[in-house]
Amino acid sequence: MRRPLENRIAVVTGGARGLGRGIARRLADDGARVIVWDIAPAAFDPVTAGFDPLAMIRVDVTDEAAVAAAAEESLTHGAVSILVNNAGMNGPVKQVADYDYATWRKVMAVNLDSVFLVSRAFVPRMVAEGHGRIVNVASIAGKEGVPGIAAYASAKAGVIGFTKSLARELVTTGVTVNAVAPVMVETDLLKEMTPEHIAASKAKIPMQRFLTIEELAGVVAFAAGPDCSFTTGFTFDASGGRATY
Ligand SMILES: NC(=O)c1ccc[n+]([C@@H]2O[C@H](COP(=O)([O-])OP(=O)(O)OC[C@H]3O[C@@H](n4cnc5c(N)ncnc54)[C@H](O)[C@@H]3O)[C@@H](O)[C@H]2O)c1
Repeated sequence: MRRPLENRIAVVTGGARGLGRGIARRLADDGARVIVWDIAPAAFDPVTAGFDPLAMIRVDVTDEAAVAAAAEESLTHGAVSILVNNAGMNGPVKQVADYDYATWRKVMAVNLDSVFLVSRAFVPRMVAEGHGRIVNVASIAGKEGVPGIAAYASAKAGVIGFTKSLARELVTTGVTVNAVAPVMVETDLLKEMTPEHIAASKAKIPMQRFLTIEELAGVVAFAAGPDCSFTTGFTFDASGGRATY
């Protein structure tokens, strides 16, 4: 079996369940030793997940000091050369006129501030090693905008802008920074959505089905791997033909 990530250490945020867990499993299958970060690590079970993490760290990715401490702890295992910023939350489905500011701030913090904080914590060591792969989980919502989830869509558009900017800062260092923009996958994220919102999202996918966790994990594994050496600042599409850009 091909194990392109052998001898690599990866951190996956929000890796206890859902997409993060599937991504972590795929990276582990490809040979990486994976450190899972999550605010709720109790959701993780290695048997269901299908791999044993190198470490599991309880951390709130919106807490600057906690992120710095978790990064320091992660680096005691060796150079972390793959970072997947996956932790995120949807927030309620509500029109902008009805959306409260505290919820807006929280959705921004979990989806966007976290990507800045966690990337900042690992970039210096990646640059010193001359190698790194940062993969940010954005969303189709960040490319297109979606009614009812303006906070989420704005945060994910911010993730795409951050990805392009950091990629350009690091372009000669050996560290690539890319994003993925998935459409809907059936995970716990959907619990905050209304049935109408879910049905409308599915109807917009030309392949007429949801994306699977394994399909997205495959895209992330490419962006995190050695073959993705000449692509940086890019947002990989995983939309079943919805976004052809
Ligand atoms: N499921 C979808 O349809 C879909 C579509 C596009 C993008 N995404 C994105 O994919 C990512 C993963 O989503 P998911 O569907 O697996 O959701 P999920 O709710 O199943 O999992 C999110 C994980 O992030 C963790 N998390 C949340 N807040 C955190 C915090 N402050 N600190 C640390 N960990 C935290 C949760 O505990 C959980 O393990 C998110 O960024 C989401 O926006 C999901």
